[in-house]
Amino acid sequence: MHNPYQTTTVKILKIEDEGSRSKLFTLEAPRDFTVRSGQFVEISLPGYGEAPISLCSDPSVKNKFELCVRKAGMVTGALHALKVGDKVGVRGPYGRPFPAEIGKQRNLLLVAGGLGLEPLRPAIWEIMKNREQYKKVQIFYGACDENDLLFTKDYDELKKKIDLHITLDKPKGLQTPVACGTGVVTTLFDHVKLYENPVAFLCGPPVMYKFVIKKLKELAFLDSDIYLSLERRMHCGVGVCNHCAVGSFFVCQDGPVFSWAELKDIKGAI
Ligand SMILES: Cc1cc2nc3c(=O)[nH]c(=O)nc-3n(C[C@H](O)[C@H](O)[C@H](O)COP(=O)(O)OP(=O)(O)OC[C@H]3O[C@@H](n4cnc5c(N)ncnc54)[C@H](O)[C@@H]3O)c2cc1C
Ligand code: FES
Repeated sequence: MHNPYQTTTVKILKIEDEGSRSKLFTLEAPRDFTVRSGQFVEISLPGYGEAPISLCSDPSVKNKFELCVRKAGMVTGALHALKVGDKVGVRGPYGRPFPAEIGKQRNLLLVAGGLGLEPLRPAIWEIMKNREQYKKVQIFYGACDENDLLFTKDYDELKKKIDLHITLDKPKGLQTPVACGTGVVTTLFDHVKLYENPVAFLCGPPVMYKFVIKKLKELAFLDSDIYLSLERRMHCGVGVCNHCAVGSFFVCQDGPVFSWAELKDIKGAI
């Protein structure tokens, strides 16, 4: 019988610093593993527990995958202490991904705040690898300061194919691989002209959602053209334990990606 809690033990192939507070882990992929933007895995370490972490790697790479982890507590702290060659448990991928295919019919606006760039990165890879199949794409990305910028090694390639705009809440005046504005991510809406009639994918903290959605509604976006990824404390990850309930939804199974049309009437959703 299928056991939804069964983990596969995989080896850590590479560990790199990603920004000043996160580490990028390259892990060997279990059999038949697929990466889709917005989906997550439960990563486990005996004696520490499990944590949901978003997939952030190129979906076309099949034998390995990447997770970018910020140290927040027990599990993520223990992950940060691991070395190449150590092993971790993985189950998943779980959850409803961003509908990246929509970008083949409609222009896309991706808005990321902080760690929110991670779940959007597989969609960005997919678009970059198959650029001619997708319409126009803009990325608005906000980070705290230069040290918090994620995936800086991607920016040169990104800039060639995607309209990338970055802003820093409190710049420290350090050199960056791409010119950055100052202010929270919503300030970009005041300076950058959006492509025509885009669909928006948002990923960031709840406070960012409040302000970005307000801007998008001022710009006459339909609720059904706004997608966002919710973060909730999770246990089972498979719609059993009720820990991640939002209204009648389970974030682990019905989300984490929802349209604003699905969430807007649920008190406390963002
Ligand atoms: C779908 C999804 C995707 C995610 N993707 C990523 C990712 O790509 N990268 C990443 O770094 N993180 C990601 N996270 C967040 C990550 O899962 C959490 O930071 C992680 O679970 C923390 O686990 P931990 O054991 O290290 O921390 P914990 O020991 O659980 O503590 C984490 C923090 O939460 C506080 N806390 C502990 N228990 C509770 C409680 N019951 N209620 C409220 N607060 C509590 C602690 O004080 C601490 O500040 C994601 C979360 C979700 C839901
Ligand atoms: S984490 Fe258990 S129902 Fe979602």
